[in-house]
Amino acid sequence: MFYWLHRTRRVVQTWQVWLGGAIALCLIAAHALVAADLLYADVQALVKLGARAAGSSRAERASEYLISEYRKAGYQVEIQTFTYPKFADAGSSLITDGKTIEAWALVRSVAGNVTGQLVAVPNFGRTEDFKAVNVRDQIAIVQRGGGLQFAEKIENAAAAGAIGILMVNNQPGNVRGMLLKASTIPAASLSQEVGTSLLQQAQSTSILAALRVRAQPNAIGRNVIAHLSDVKQPQLIIGGHYDSVEHSPGANDNASGTAVVLGLARSLSKSPQARQVWFVSFDGEEDGLKGSEAFVDRATSQFLTGLKAMLNFDMVGINDRLLLDGSGAVSAIASSIHGTVSSNQLGGSDHLSFKAKNVPTLFFFRGKDPNYHSPGDKIVDPRLLRETQAAALKIIPTILNQTSSR
Ligand code: BES
Ligand code: ZN
Repeated sequence: MFYWLHRTRRVVQTWQVWLGGAIALCLIAAHALVAADLLYADVQALVKLGARAAGSSRAERASEYLISEYRKAGYQVEIQTFTYPKFADAGSSLITDGKTIEAWALVRSVAGNVTGQLVAVPNFGRTEDFKAVNVRDQIAIVQRGGGLQFAEKIENAAAAGAIGILMVNNQPGNVRGMLLKASTIPAASLSQEVGTSLLQQAQSTSILAALRVRAQPNAIGRNVIAHLSDVKQPQLIIGGHYDSVEHSPGANDNASGTAVVLGLARSLSKSPQARQVWFVSFDGEEDGLKGSEAFVDRATSQFLTGLKAMLNFDMVGINDRLLLDGSGAVSAIASSIHGTVSSNQLGGSDHLSFKAKNVPTLFFFRGKDPNYHSPGDKIVDPRLLRETQAAALKIIPTILNQTSSR
């Protein structure tokens, strides 16, 4: 009897140990899975928004996603806005006969709403073509081409007193015309299909129309800066750009790096190291490192010299081999842990803005991507995101422990 009880207790104990172990293992695995899934979920959330060109409403929505994720991880968030010249058509149109026709603002057209008769200009809008009609205080409509630049047609129209001008494409569809400098009158283009019939009608009947050119000459970029409360002088900046080029959802370039930066913020949030770091998701990188330039330009020299390093993550979701490119004191630290570290300035990205201010930099990337800057940049490998984060987590403590000032 006693023996039986004893045995039962032993069995129960063994069973409990097994169960406890199994639960612990499941929890660890689940935690790793959740963490990994979070990285992939970040990429998916950003890609779902579509192309995140700086200054667009989609980029603004991406910044809101990042703000909310950093806050969930326990950080205070600052949004650093900056403005730079970048033309955008915010939806231009021609309204005639109660119908709204899509028009495309010429790049660098002045914005404006004008109303008048559509005056069909013969030929291609040379100076003498404008002499054959009266466009004064009216809207000129003219064919594209004939060996004249868009700018020449606009100048001739303005000189003849036109208050606006429409270009009719000489090929199927519409065209995004470009000017080298701002026009003096609103200028937009129409597709060949819609424009040709309007041009013909305007030759025989009088058409009253309203042209709305909603052009924006500047873009507003938004850097998202996250840090624990009262951390004013970090020793490390961990960053990556979240904007993409137009027409590309930017999964690898650079939702991948953005997700790893968020992942590092989440995994460091409860450690003392988090008090030594700022996490920055940069905007406007694709327009020439605008976000990181704005960041370093506004930082004091004391802030910049207080930094031991800037770590940049850009295109880390494709290709097995993780490449590191370093400058200054962090190169040796990184190569002692990771192996090879180049110093070839491979790929222009935000670390260059810090390097230009003598901040040691370490650039994490995985080389060429066949879908680079294309609509096909939609996929990344979640394993590679995890491995990038793990590689960074090995290097970060050594950088922070480095005692010598630089
Ligand atoms: N993500 C790229 C840079 C890059 C390319 C990193 C290949 C890793 C591998 C970045 O967004 C980019 O396109 N940079 C431009 C220059 C930038 C100043 C507009 C480039 O490299 O041409
Ligand atoms: Zn990039």
